Amino acid sequence: MNSKIVLRNIVLAGGVALSSTAWAATPSGEMLGATCAACHGTNGSSVGILPSLASTPASYFVDSMKGFKSGTRKATVMDRVAKGYSDEEIQLMGDFFEAQKVVPMKQKFESVKASQGKKLHDKYCEKCHEDGGRKPDEGGVLAGQSMIYLTFSMADFLSGDREMDKKMKRKVDELLEESDKAGIDALIHFYGSQQ
Ligand code: HEC
Ligand code: HEC
Repeated sequence: MNSKIVLRNIVLAGGVALSSTAWAATPSGEMLGATCAACHGTNGSSVGILPSLASTPASYFVDSMKGFKSGTRKATVMDRVAKGYSDEEIQLMGDFFEAQKVVPMKQKFESVKASQGKKLHDKYCEKCHEDGGRKPDEGGVLAGQSMIYLTFSMADFLSGDREMDKKMKRKVDELLEESDKAGIDALIHFYGSQQ
């Protein structure tokens, strides 16, 4: 089944209502960010299937939100959410989430896959996603991120639904040549093992 449809169904099954923004004056990043907690966790540390936002660099957060808003980054839910916020409000939320320390998600992983994934990570991904994907440098934090979300993210990158950084694509292509999709799965178990 199409991963978008699956993700949308999971989200809607949670019965989470999208919040509207009828603010008189610009509220703080914390107030704005609180409306995201139902899906992204308290202060942006997710405990469900959706990505954590805490510790995400504001620059990447802003790019993501603007991409959702303009439609250049495809989404199931976030296109509608992002349209409710001005650029100023997005920046305020970005600064707020960047300042929150992410709590790695507790989730099940397979340790054999995780150790294979660590080797692949060091070889192909560490250069940009440093410290085992803990350092929120490029593209947010991968370590301790929801494995389900990472699975969807990688599927979107591979199908071309989401554009990959050109240099990242080169490394992902090399990885696929070495280990095919099993390598991607191993990487996801590695990131999930970082708790
Ligand atoms: C109803 C659930 C829901 C709500 C509420 C929600 N999100 Fe999301 N968010 C998602 C989903 C699902 C995704 C994955 C992209 C998609 O399919 O839309 C996502 C992805 C994101 C991403 C991309 C993360 C990454 O690592 O690239 C950002 C940034 C984000 N959301 C910000 C927010 C902000 C800010 C709010 C509050 C103003 C918010 N979201 C409210 C469901 C939600
Ligand atoms: C040359 C640098 C570079 C390399 C190497 C690289 N990445 Fe990335 N990665 C990025 C950038 C930049 C982004 C942000 C992309 C965007 O703007 O959407 C990103 C985003 C991601 C995301 C999306 C995170 C999210 O929150 O949705 C995942 C997952 C990811 N990378 C996995 C990997 C994996 C796995 C490897 C190794 C096979 C890898 N990357 C190698 C630069 C890199």
